[in-house]
Amino acid sequence: MAKLSVGIVTAGGDAPGMNAAIRCCVRSLLAGEAKVLGVRRGYKGLIEKDFESLTSRSVSGIINLGGTILRTARCDEIKSELGLDVAAKNLNELSLDYLIVIGGDGTFRAAKEISRRSGVACIGIPASIDNDIDGTEETIGFDTAVNTALDAVDKIRDTAISHERFFIVEVMGRGSGFLAITVGLAAGAEFILIPEKPPNVNNIIERYRMMKSLGKTSMIAILAEGAMDGLTLVNELKKKVDAEVRFSSIGYIQRGGVPTVRSRILANLFSSKAVEMIFEGKKDFMVGIVDNKIVEKTLSGKKRVLCERELGMLDLAEKLAI
Ligand code: F6P
Repeated sequence: MAKLSVGIVTAGGDAPGMNAAIRCCVRSLLAGEAKVLGVRRGYKGLIEKDFESLTSRSVSGIINLGGTILRTARCDEIKSELGLDVAAKNLNELSLDYLIVIGGDGTFRAAKEISRRSGVACIGIPASIDNDIDGTEETIGFDTAVNTALDAVDKIRDTAISHERFFIVEVMGRGSGFLAITVGLAAGAEFILIPEKPPNVNNIIERYRMMKSLGKTSMIAILAEGAMDGLTLVNELKKKVDAEVRFSSIGYIQRGGVPTVRSRILANLFSSKAVEMIFEGKKDFMVGIVDNKIVEKTLSGKKRVLCERELGMLDLAEKLAI
């Protein structure tokens, strides 16, 4: 039987643990005698034919590294008909049997289209610090980003307490509040502001005054970047509350760094499941974790929405802040 030929691409925003996923895919595929090709710089590399053959040595010493050795890109071309056609044509020229795509919901949406046009089966491994991919309760990189942000908030808390200040701390999450909710509950934040429930400044002020009347001398609000503009919020608050209000954005620090145990383990479990399914001849699916089990699902390409557990975490954080 002809050897399977499998491509691997990391696309969209990088997430800690992507390298552990690449390593596991490469070595598991090689163990099954498949040929492995890396697509460099995300879908940009697929369009521009930027490929490299991957061996076991190509993935040595990367399990502990953040980012992605294959590089990645935000690729606008892949959102157009022309870009999708070129990507599909290039994939066909390579005679690949499968393309493993490691990334977020946008990456999966493009993968579905590329697969439809080329006939090459695309397999999704969810990796994003946002944790907002339909089909899985957790993504590679989320746990690392949460821990990085939490460490920063704990440090900011020292200044908040010492100076009796009200801090607005911005975390990532353009369209989703998973990171903000998780960090907020773990940090004991007084406010968690997320895009799914657009914040109302008057309500924030009212709640601030209520908590102040209960003897609180410092407070922290965790603001998901997509909920509202942080500086606008700070300026509004400065006019209306009797506290020194400060803004701190954690930013890209959350996207990088050494992946945590959880991010690495998830990367390994997702990737080995994906390769196992490939050798079984399964097509067009994604892997995920649901009820603590590694599962395979249809590649939906949708965003995950807040579930009951996360909404409960939000309520709990609010209750415990008083
Ligand atoms: O990867 C997801 C994410 O981290 C979002 O939370 C954030 O808004 C976005 O990426 C920013 O990404 P970039 O600046 O790389 O486009």
